[in-house]
Amino acid sequence: MTLPLVRVRGLRVAFPDRARKPLLGAAPMIEVVKGIDLDIPRGCALGLVGESGSGKTTIGRALVRLVRPSGGELIYDGVDIAGWPEERMHPLRAKLQIIFQDPQSSLNPRLTIGTTLARPLQAFGRGGGRAGRMRRAAELLDIVGLPATFLDRYPHELSGGQRQRVGIARALALEPEFIVADEIVSGLDVSTQAQILLLLRRLREEFNLTLVFISHDLSVVRVLCDRVAVLSAGEVVEEGDTAAVFADPRHAYTRELLRSVPLPEVEEGWIMAERA
Ligand SMILES: Nc1ncnc2c1ncn2[C@@H]1O[C@H](COP(=O)(O)OP(=O)(O)O)[C@@H](O)[C@H]1O
Ligand SMILES: [Mg+2]
Repeated sequence: MTLPLVRVRGLRVAFPDRARKPLLGAAPMIEVVKGIDLDIPRGCALGLVGESGSGKTTIGRALVRLVRPSGGELIYDGVDIAGWPEERMHPLRAKLQIIFQDPQSSLNPRLTIGTTLARPLQAFGRGGGRAGRMRRAAELLDIVGLPATFLDRYPHELSGGQRQRVGIARALALEPEFIVADEIVSGLDVSTQAQILLLLRRLREEFNLTLVFISHDLSVVRVLCDRVAVLSAGEVVEEGDTAAVFADPRHAYTRELLRSVPLPEVEEGWIMAERA
């Protein structure tokens, strides 16, 4: 058996509970991820679903070590990185990327798209000089289906879908292995959602990416993900092949989530039609 790229065992994340902070002293901790197990094989796209507040974003951030777990193991490519200090994480940061929900707030409004894409290259001493980095930035734009003229634009000059493509391009800049995409199509209109999903599906194959795709929308997960893990209140309540979970949801919570999907069904044929 080959080891999964990412193996999570008993992962816990706790935050200080400000609402219960006493006048003197530290706030008590509240656990929002309560000991979860996940296996993410190389090349797999795992959907992480669950209602708002169930801990999806916290888990996604923990998987790329933007949050330090309070307990458990986070085994990346055979090595437990759960407790690694930041200096030790640095070289791995190129391989682990996250794309955020809202590119409006994750893209610096004062930087051109070219500068935004060149920054990670500069931080990791890649791409040669400035001219080389701009060439790579133009190549990244091309990879996500945007013209090189966008190098000189600012985020506010782009549509929501174009900004999200830039967010994807930035995540690809350092040739990562593992990408967490956190609600990246939420807030986009349905046809733009479909285009972004198709782009992600193509990039996943092209660059052999391992993906965690976070969404509260099960119809979106169905299109992209091989496996799905259902979260409720910081725990995984169901996990399995996407088709199997959708066809025969075991857990009452999953059945409820399936019933409450608000968006129209995304049919395979519908999404394929967008490929033209
Ligand atoms: N930095 C933080 N400090 C304190 N509580 C947090 C923090 N981030 C998230 N939480 C809490 O953790 C829980 C899970 O949040 P989150 O991971 O954002 O869920 P989801 O992405 O599924 O909506 C929520 O109750 C939220 O209020
Ligand atoms: Mg979230």
